[in-house]
Amino acid sequence: MPLSAVVLACASVVASAAQAGEVEVLHWWTSGGEAKAVSSLKATLQAKGDTWKDFAVAGGGGDSAMTVLKSRVVSGNAPAAAQIKGPSLQEWAAEGVLANMDDVAKAENWDTVLPKVVSDVMKYQGHYIAAPVNVHRVNWLWSNPEVFKKAGVKVPTTWDEFFVAAEGLKKAGVIPVAHGGQNWQDFTTFEAVALGVGGVDFYKKALVQLDPKTLSSPTMEKVLTTFKKVKDYTDKNAPGRDWNLATAMVIKGEAGMQIMGDWAKGEFLAAGKVPGKDFSCSAAPGTAKSYTFNIDSFAMFKLKNEANIKAQKDLAVAIMSPEFQETFSLNKGSIPVRLGVKMDKFDECAKTSSADFVSTAKTGALVPSIAHGMAVPSAAEGAIKDAVSQFWNTDKMTAKEAMDKIASAAKTK
Ligand code: BGC
Repeated sequence: MPLSAVVLACASVVASAAQAGEVEVLHWWTSGGEAKAVSSLKATLQAKGDTWKDFAVAGGGGDSAMTVLKSRVVSGNAPAAAQIKGPSLQEWAAEGVLANMDDVAKAENWDTVLPKVVSDVMKYQGHYIAAPVNVHRVNWLWSNPEVFKKAGVKVPTTWDEFFVAAEGLKKAGVIPVAHGGQNWQDFTTFEAVALGVGGVDFYKKALVQLDPKTLSSPTMEKVLTTFKKVKDYTDKNAPGRDWNLATAMVIKGEAGMQIMGDWAKGEFLAAGKVPGKDFSCSAAPGTAKSYTFNIDSFAMFKLKNEANIKAQKDLAVAIMSPEFQETFSLNKGSIPVRLGVKMDKFDECAKTSSADFVSTAKTGALVPSIAHGMAVPSAAEGAIKDAVSQFWNTDKMTAKEAMDKIASAAKTK
């Protein structure tokens, strides 16, 4: 090798060593399927020569992670990236703690490769402050076909059919509905009922616009009554159960079905189960023509160290690369958020999700998931979730009383 080439090679080694930085990443992806997905992100980053510092805070839905994040930021020790979603991105950006990622976004054409509804959420005052990872559909019903067959019932497409199936499963000696009594899981069921029983317009008015009249309407009462009836088909060990343990009950055939977002599919897949054979995905009752979306994203915090800033940008580039978008969602149960990623390697559940995401966007039936922080400012969201869970957990509370509580919770600032 000529000397000049040796010098060049050495120089590039020195340069990349000097540039290698560390990114500390806060997330709550700790279940089997989630961990597989996050390890693909770690590997993508490490392939760029950067170091991944894992900051995992267990707890589905991310409530615990958000509490830990707040205390870290308040003490001036923010991670490089944190899993923050929806309107919370704006709240964090308004605190002045998020970094401007426009240079990466421009170089990588994010404005072109992202749907506008998504890129708008990733921007604060017109500047990118976060990178989107994927799209989860939340209004799913996961069921175990063998258990359904044994019980002689069919997968429900309406709420009336749901209770018929649940009765049949109960008679067959299985737990009809696998549920975890945590407020975000209660709300995941609640919003599925609200969409299925109340319809898209009701959902938007009541739960997105928080319209006081709609929140106190007869439809709301019907939604609450139907929601509470679901509880009769859950087991006595549901309180506090993690969502993935509920999914495991369906996987093992101890329970017939679960209402949960498609991160549940990640659990079925990680357990070696085959969609359409060992488990089935269908829209939550009454919601086949609508879509509750939940977009995972990473907010980037302001950093001082140059090498770490570079590594943070590498992470943002990695998250949005077509290869990563595909691999991550194949493990996670979601679909890519980036436009134009091929779906051939995906299963039928993901293909349905992808087609329905596009079609519901056109019909106006694409609605944000409240349970997963997509629409309502965090203070009101927390208060509404607490009110809904209180209703779920309090046998004596009437639907009318719950309506009052929810309507006043919606005013929380
Ligand atoms: C997140 C998913 C995650 C799920 C369960 C949701 O809020 O968006 O990525 O898998 O919570 O932890």
